[in-house]
Amino acid sequence: MCGIMGYVGSKPALPVVLKGLRQLEYRGYDSAGIAIADKDRISVLKCKGKVADLENLVKRENFPGSTALGHTRWATHGEPSTPNAHPHIDCSGKIAIVHNGIIENHAPLRKLLEAEGHTFRSDTDTEVFSHLVEKFYRGDILLAVQEALTLIEGAYAFAVICQDEPDKIVAARRESPLVIGVGNGNEGEYIIASDLVAIVEHTRQAIHLDDGEIGVFQPSGHRIIDKANMKVEKDVESITWSLDKITKGGFPHYMLKEIFEQPETIYDTMRGRILKEKAQIKLGGLEDLIKLPSAEKTTTGLSHLLNSKRIVIIGCGTSWHASLVGEYLFENMLGIPVEVEYASEARYRNFIVDKDTTVIGISQSGETADTLAALREAKRRGAATLGLVNVVGSSIARETHCGVYLHAGPEIGVASTKAFTSQVCLLALMALLIGREKHVITDQRAGTIIQRLLEIPSQVEEILKKSSLIRDMAQRYAGFSNFLYLGRGYNFPIALEGALKLKEISYIHAEGYPAAEMKHGPIALIDENMPVIFIATDTEDQTYQKVISNIEEVKSRHGQVIIIASEGNESIYDVADTVITIPETEYCLTPLLTVIPLQLFAYHMAMLKGYDPDQPRNLAKSVTVE
Ligand code: G6P
Repeated sequence: MCGIMGYVGSKPALPVVLKGLRQLEYRGYDSAGIAIADKDRISVLKCKGKVADLENLVKRENFPGSTALGHTRWATHGEPSTPNAHPHIDCSGKIAIVHNGIIENHAPLRKLLEAEGHTFRSDTDTEVFSHLVEKFYRGDILLAVQEALTLIEGAYAFAVICQDEPDKIVAARRESPLVIGVGNGNEGEYIIASDLVAIVEHTRQAIHLDDGEIGVFQPSGHRIIDKANMKVEKDVESITWSLDKITKGGFPHYMLKEIFEQPETIYDTMRGRILKEKAQIKLGGLEDLIKLPSAEKTTTGLSHLLNSKRIVIIGCGTSWHASLVGEYLFENMLGIPVEVEYASEARYRNFIVDKDTTVIGISQSGETADTLAALREAKRRGAATLGLVNVVGSSIARETHCGVYLHAGPEIGVASTKAFTSQVCLLALMALLIGREKHVITDQRAGTIIQRLLEIPSQVEEILKKSSLIRDMAQRYAGFSNFLYLGRGYNFPIALEGALKLKEISYIHAEGYPAAEMKHGPIALIDENMPVIFIATDTEDQTYQKVISNIEEVKSRHGQVIIIASEGNESIYDVADTVITIPETEYCLTPLLTVIPLQLFAYHMAMLKGYDPDQPRNLAKSVTVE
């Protein structure tokens, strides 16, 4: 939600900031702006629309300044418009700020500032902050920001520049991501950004600001102060992934590239974690020591998991769907009680968890506000928390007791694809690990599942070869405006995920349901205008014949039937209008395959309708507000 970019150093700041904004555009794209500090003024240019519109605006001007801020917005308070775009300035125009998050007490603050004579130019919550900094400015921008922050309630990442101190950026964060790239060698430059993707091109060294920290960055060096107003020495961490991970690599869209990367990313999730000969799994992150306030002794994440009476898995969006697959995997394979919760619900109800519970938070970004808050609440209530995240060094990765990374590489397409398959793969590895430790999975069974897991990347590749077939299928169904997705067992979450993908990027109404629930409502909708996508892969499963009966029920009401089935199931062609097959695997691993055609179907549908799947309307990649 909103991308922040800033540069301070010796180069012209404008090109660096504009390029960074393009890389951060997945975070928000309804308006964009920049502020550049020169010797005697701060120039602000902003507009409604995308970063490309801002670039057109900027082209006409020449700004040599070496300190600048940029912002790409996802509107929360105030419609997308030029006045509401960031940066926001104070009354004098000497202070400019960019913000990601929500200032919850903006209304009383605005009243107070207006009463003191401040003039507002926008409808945003953010603008109060520029006036607050102005109110407290007495020649030291760091102190003014610190003082202003004491009045702010809510979530924020802020970056601030000031005309009277033009070689400084002050940056602060609470619950919204902010990383600082530290210039290579002696260049004396800093890049401030919401995400590492905007930094890697300039430097491989980064500082992650923690909640409550505030820093001042200038060519001569930096200083970071913590919540207690003490100077902190932060580790400068190395970024290990390569630049080609954040380019489109010849694909027309990031989403398509990320769908096609899945053979590699699923493999990367497994890499070094499977000891094939011993049929064992090793997840280093679970070996970290944790000490819960209510527990007598320190334990490891894994031992806590093994002794947990309950596992609760939380997430949002696609990560919530992966959590549901986790529930099936853990309960079926391990017999441990698992509950899956929407993080947004868990955080505000009486979330009953204690020291005997492990709460697993699943998140691609590691920054989703609801997931982070629910994990904090779980921690406060004494539970052990474990993060399954993709973004290294993200808030969830740092705040949970222990965790495991997905290793899927940067995911930029707004609709999550490769992170989902890595999440499911990691959950399967965890189920195997726990099952082996608890002696509920035999050597032979573990060996079989591991063998089948290792086959998944090449099987995904086989499915990807059907992309043009799926495009033809999308063409056949492009005229329909409602779809129903039905699946059972391990593929019920895939029905939800398939429907979500179609909604997110093709703007077509779609519902996912457990197939058996069809008769409790959705069947009333079925006629010749309602295509139904069934996922019916496992002919040996006890529910398979029941799904076939559901298919017959749809057909007898003239519904169109599309089936994702396993290769070799010849009889499926008798009941389907369209069949897409996937290679055969263990039932518990089918979600890793069945989701692929549904991702491709949504992508091709978006293409046929002329929509940009990388920047779907109203959505943002990382939802850091409530
Ligand atoms: C947004 C994205 C989804 C994602 C969800 C959860 O809604 O558009 O693709 O699944 O957030 O994000 P997370 O980073 O926590 O997995």
